[in-house]
Amino acid sequence: MKNIKYKTRKICCIGAGYVGGPTMAVIASHCKNISVNVVDINEKRINSWNSHSLDNLPIYEPGLKEVIKKTRNINLFFSTDIKNAISKSDMVFISVNTPTKLKGFGAGYASDLKWVEESARQVAKYSKGHTIVIEKSTLPVKTAELIKTILEAQSENKHSKGTKKSFSVLSNPEFLSEGNAIDDLENPDRVLIGGDDEYSINELEQIYRTWISKNKILRTNLWSSELSKLSANAFLAQRISSINSISAICEKTGADIKEVSKAIGLDKRIGNRFLSAGPGFGGSCFKKDILNLVYLCRYYGLKEVSDYWEQVVLLNNWQRNRISSLVVKKLFGTVSLKKIAILGFAFKANTNDVREAAAINITKDLIENGAKLLIHDPKVNSEQIETAIDLKCSDDIDNSNQGSWIFQEDFNKLFFEIDAVLVLTEWNDYKSIRWDIYSKNMRKPAWVFDTRNIIDKEKVISSGLNYWGLGDGNNFEN
Ligand code: UDX
Ligand code: ADP
Repeated sequence: MKNIKYKTRKICCIGAGYVGGPTMAVIASHCKNISVNVVDINEKRINSWNSHSLDNLPIYEPGLKEVIKKTRNINLFFSTDIKNAISKSDMVFISVNTPTKLKGFGAGYASDLKWVEESARQVAKYSKGHTIVIEKSTLPVKTAELIKTILEAQSENKHSKGTKKSFSVLSNPEFLSEGNAIDDLENPDRVLIGGDDEYSINELEQIYRTWISKNKILRTNLWSSELSKLSANAFLAQRISSINSISAICEKTGADIKEVSKAIGLDKRIGNRFLSAGPGFGGSCFKKDILNLVYLCRYYGLKEVSDYWEQVVLLNNWQRNRISSLVVKKLFGTVSLKKIAILGFAFKANTNDVREAAAINITKDLIENGAKLLIHDPKVNSEQIETAIDLKCSDDIDNSNQGSWIFQEDFNKLFFEIDAVLVLTEWNDYKSIRWDIYSKNMRKPAWVFDTRNIIDKEKVISSGLNYWGLGDGNNFEN
């Protein structure tokens, strides 16, 4: 361990989710002299973090269970005792969820900050002495101001209960990508710390310096830090919408999206990452962050700028819709009572997260059109799907006379008498499917639709199945 240059001994993280859990586990693994307490109001989630078997952690993330094994109940603790954790801490990370508002002012665009506000109020109430408060959740620009206002109101009341309190607020956005979170935390491209209080910035910087080199730590003002997070995600999402728009042109012209991606990615100014066309981006951040940006621009009267960014989201919706309509079209214009196997429900591979997954819209569309879906995913469970699409799993899909779905883990039963397979997540398990064997169980003419371009086209076709690949100008029957 490097020379310890920080005074912080106790950290609390409010929110034990996809961000809070892995981030705190990695901090605890590097800073053995800091006690890290992760708290959450969701008791079930905390129990899962504390569960004896490391296979029952609430989130699936490669490498996570190894880090948890090294740290849990040593200097990493999960609990629902928020009051106690805050009162003992020098530093509090706010890592709660900030979904897009469904109603009220800014509905559909602005983030719902009620959980952030609630967390700030809890910090204001229970903290003791000086507390460094760090916004970790993805937040709209100027949220730090809201947190500061709540905290300052409390420091003005400092004598009311005889305890002297003071706070400084920092923005330290997470840039971890689910499925790669541990590696992103261990070897980040950069760590951004926004704020104006030198002491607090130094404290946080020194914690990261335990395992991250100085040149990767960037100090900015609060607003630059908050805006950088939204902009980085907007730029990344824009790349996906751009390549997805080109996939549609490929299908019309005979070009091949994989060749186009490779060709443009070889230009160093463009780069080869984040150029895989797919069914549309998902995940908890991209859409929410762009909508926040759109809202911010509208608020400041920048209509053209807001329209520009909104188009990234609109194109994403269009990409999802065009996939469900295409499946219906290829299956003779109707999927009513036809069986379709859905391969993958997570918003991308190597995560069990389904938030904003393209699978949600696409499966809902197909069910609405009367299809019977057999859904498979290696890490997502049936309850998550039920909540995501707001429809109960069918008891008897064979005898159902309307659109319905079941969760099917067994490959041997998944392909039985189906009309089509639709690949929505790029799980490795799907790359080596024995189409020659399973095609025998399917109802002909049967289709394989690959929205991730991971399936071996030649093997599908030689097994007597029809093939459609996203952005493949040579799609069968074109
Ligand atoms: C993203 C950002 O990458 C991360 O830096 C930020 O802090 C949080 O948001 P995440 O949502 O976990 O991370 O996943 P990401 O890997 O960015 O993928 C987002 C979506 O884009 C997924 O649905 C994925 O399938 C899709 N995608 C990604 C593509 O369709 N093609 C690509 O080439 C890359
Ligand atoms: P993220 O991807 O940003 O980590 P999650 O939804 O996975 O989002 O996690 C956020 C967590 O924050 C949830 O487990 C939720 O229960 C928790 N949470 C929300 N509000 C509070 C609060 N006031 N106090 C403690 N935990 C909270």
